[in-house]
Amino acid sequence: MDRQPMGKATSLWLDTAPEVMFPMQSDPVEVDVAVIGGGISGITAACELKAAGRSVALLDAGRLLQGVTGQTTAKVTSQHTLIYTHLVQHFGEDKARAYADANQAAIEHIAQQAQARGIDCDLQRTEAWTWAETDEEVAQLHREAEAALRCGLPARFSESVPLPFPARAGLSFARQAQFHPLKYLLPLAQAIPGDGSHVFENTCALKVEQGEPCTVYTRRGTIRARDVIFATHYPFPDHSLYALRLRPYRHYLLTARLDGPAPAGMFINVQRTHSLRSYEGESGPMAIVVGEGHPVGEGGDTRARYQRLADWTRQVLPVAEITHHWSTHDHQSIDHVPYIGRLSPVSKHLYVATGFGGWGMTTGTVAGLLLRDLILGRENPWAEVFAPNRVNLAGTRDLMRLTFTIGKHWVGDRLRRQPPELAIGEGKVVAATHGQIALYRDEQGEMHAHSATCTHMGCVLQFNGAEKSWDCPCHGSRFSAVDGRVLHGPALEALARRELDEIEEVRKAG
Ligand code: FES
Repeated sequence: MDRQPMGKATSLWLDTAPEVMFPMQSDPVEVDVAVIGGGISGITAACELKAAGRSVALLDAGRLLQGVTGQTTAKVTSQHTLIYTHLVQHFGEDKARAYADANQAAIEHIAQQAQARGIDCDLQRTEAWTWAETDEEVAQLHREAEAALRCGLPARFSESVPLPFPARAGLSFARQAQFHPLKYLLPLAQAIPGDGSHVFENTCALKVEQGEPCTVYTRRGTIRARDVIFATHYPFPDHSLYALRLRPYRHYLLTARLDGPAPAGMFINVQRTHSLRSYEGESGPMAIVVGEGHPVGEGGDTRARYQRLADWTRQVLPVAEITHHWSTHDHQSIDHVPYIGRLSPVSKHLYVATGFGGWGMTTGTVAGLLLRDLILGRENPWAEVFAPNRVNLAGTRDLMRLTFTIGKHWVGDRLRRQPPELAIGEGKVVAATHGQIALYRDEQGEMHAHSATCTHMGCVLQFNGAEKSWDCPCHGSRFSAVDGRVLHGPALEALARRELDEIEEVRKAG
């Protein structure tokens, strides 16, 4: 893949976090609240509910924080590129202000928790910037500055941006923050077990029955709970069609050790094609750089994306060494506001938190605080703007586009027919006598054949060459190319194994 070394293939956070393990579920459990999903929203909700006197069971299908939260850039900011222009226009000023207040409160909550609990998580208060590269983008930043100020945010337009490369102008928010997400969240998770509360790893939830109480069926037994939170990107059951209302995106990240100071703060361009932040590593200043995003399953040559990101980083920063590279996954709601609240209009005890769109450090924290209040029966002024079952015309066009995209993949990908010749490290979907086969040749030359049909809702998978995975373009499930196991939901079941001679039959017939 690389012309120059790209460092370790893991996130900086996972590589530098302390090793903390939690048990698997071994017995049936009864609690007040079951929280499915061990990322920032699940851990924050569970921690807050426990602090409010509720017993909780937090469970994760794998290890806590190994999903999106472990792969983030960890910017803690209410500046979400140009969101306030959009919110004021499509949601109205009151809801735009509620969104701003919620995200500002999340920043302060994280800072307060770190201080109160004595958590050393490399938290640093700093500015967040969006930079413009064209006249049109400068005009957009002016409008965003005005909308943000109307929402009470600490926004400032400036023609001078503290970046070491040219930018036409920038919009800064003061007193935002950045941190090490695992160093912050692991101590919160460790505070949960005890007094009737639990944290379970490697405990996959398979089914949830709503009732009084609800029952969560896991691979390890049952959890009975008055309330259940889905903090898993896609909730199940999906009566409210979240699968049609979320668009999964993939992004590529790298960490570079610098020969000189890192730009002070957090930065993203208006187009959201590049973003970076500083980090003070043990061996000196570092930058974490993000870019090359694409809808899941539409990445083309994903190895080339890492290379382009590395080239860009070397162009704009004094790179001494690239130390880590990894990719991440996020889900965008169709109107760009997360879904946080009751799962459906008729759900009495099921709650959801999803659709953070790349801003999960603040909106995931908002989710934890808001769901705590909803479950405790407290009023919360943010509830309306994040209500999952809101009707908002702002998302109509995106909903139609997303439905078309999913339909295109569901039908169109079935019609592809490709020859099965594969180079080392390559994967292809090939036609077979029955259905299609996801075929992968590993680094040792061994072939691996699995069903190419996503086990979530049946879309045809696409090969991701950088990660050696099969990715679903519909809702973002990912599967190992070697053994077909689920790397990322919403799918729960691994890909079925297929036989290589099924492909041979087609080849002869063709
Ligand atoms: Fe939904 Fe694949 S069909 S993730």
